[in-house]
Amino acid sequence: MRSSKAFDHLWMPFTSWRDAIDYPPLVIESASGVYLYDREGKSYIDGTGSWWSSLFGHGHPVITAAVRKQLERMEHVMMAGCISEPTLHLIELLSLLLPEGTSRIFLSDDGSTAVEAALKMALQYHALNGKCDRTRFVSLGGGYHGDTLGAMSVGSIPHYHALFHHCFKKALFTDPPYCYRCPCGRESSTCAAQCMNSLEKLFDEHHSTIAAFIFEPMVQGAAGMRIYPSAVLERCFALCKKFGILTIADEVATGFGRTGTMFACEHAHVVPDIMCLAKGLTGGYLPLAVTAVSETIFDAFKGDAFSNRTFEHGHTFTGNPLASAAACASIDLMHEYRIPASLTTRSSQLAELLQGFYRYDIVGDVRTLGMVGAIELVADRSTKERLPAQKRIPFSVCRKALAKGLLIRPLGNVIYFMPPYITTEEQLERVVGLTHESLKETIDEKLPFS
Ligand SMILES: Cc1ncc(COP(=O)(O)O)c(C=O)c1O
Repeated sequence: MRSSKAFDHLWMPFTSWRDAIDYPPLVIESASGVYLYDREGKSYIDGTGSWWSSLFGHGHPVITAAVRKQLERMEHVMMAGCISEPTLHLIELLSLLLPEGTSRIFLSDDGSTAVEAALKMALQYHALNGKCDRTRFVSLGGGYHGDTLGAMSVGSIPHYHALFHHCFKKALFTDPPYCYRCPCGRESSTCAAQCMNSLEKLFDEHHSTIAAFIFEPMVQGAAGMRIYPSAVLERCFALCKKFGILTIADEVATGFGRTGTMFACEHAHVVPDIMCLAKGLTGGYLPLAVTAVSETIFDAFKGDAFSNRTFEHGHTFTGNPLASAAACASIDLMHEYRIPASLTTRSSQLAELLQGFYRYDIVGDVRTLGMVGAIELVADRSTKERLPAQKRIPFSVCRKALAKGLLIRPLGNVIYFMPPYITTEEQLERVVGLTHESLKETIDEKLPFS
């Protein structure tokens, strides 16, 4: 067992200094399927698929074998003047899996770099077409696209982005498509995507300076798993078409079956000009990302070394052979397990089980789409008044769950579930059951909330 002195030097992501001291991270020693094991051998169900990346669970024999086999041959080679066999194979597999029309594939390392590449491609595409004043981006209110500066510039979650927004050339934001707190005061039964009137207004006023519209299709993950109707997406695409604006679908969290279709854009039967993928691409094994574009966009980049048309972008570990081998194996598993069709039973179970949370007054909204589920906690269900942040109620629920052997994390006042696809009926029941226990204990302990 290593010395815990490391904690005196460690800087944890998304964690306050105080919390890192009061709640030191669990040291996970091994993992198998949906379970993580700590130093004492205690097991924890991975209820969020390790930040939404683990599709087929930990230590899947097929992916593990593929990485091991590749490791025996070669760990890495730069993707400049060279490419590895598994990377070539991956490009072939992806070209068959991606929606027709987004089959020119650029690789990078993670969700943020996939988004950075997409934003730069859009800017350069316009510049190459002589439209140098198309330099602004529009995105959905409440969006999250990663933590690098470019990705943050198109994000609008105050908690993450407010401090940095003044540094950027200002992106433009629509009203948030947040159905539970609809900015237009509608119920879902009367929704006609009016929140996107704000998009129409932005396009009306600024379309000649806009490079692209970037969005998380169907689910705004980091904002709190806010699920919005496909009609909103349809309207966005219709407006982009009308004003000639490029579309960038950030499918980093939603891609590869998570929402019940292979890519979330399919819910609205739309194909974006640019698509970003990461997280589940390697089944959650290794960092790797894709920015896939239409041939029309790629055409603008065709030219020789002196044409100034080259996309001057790349990362040291772009197209890493181990990550590529993992991604090939993960895509093979998607076919073998018939993803997304085979997920219907488990997603229906998730939807049904989560309805049970309405028995607590503190639960204002339950939302699910495919293998994404969330409950939003409120101080008062009738007024939708928010919980007092200082009480840290969702945090307390997740801490209690951890003690019981379930790893989940809150997003603001939302507790969410992103179970690996291999989660069994019993395991999912346990995930939800342990959350019930933890929520109930928190309510008993912390009431009244104000
Ligand atoms: C929609 C979306 N885009 C981009 C990212 C950034 O991905 P990464 O953390 O791999 O950089 C995330 C991460 O959660 C995400 O949810």
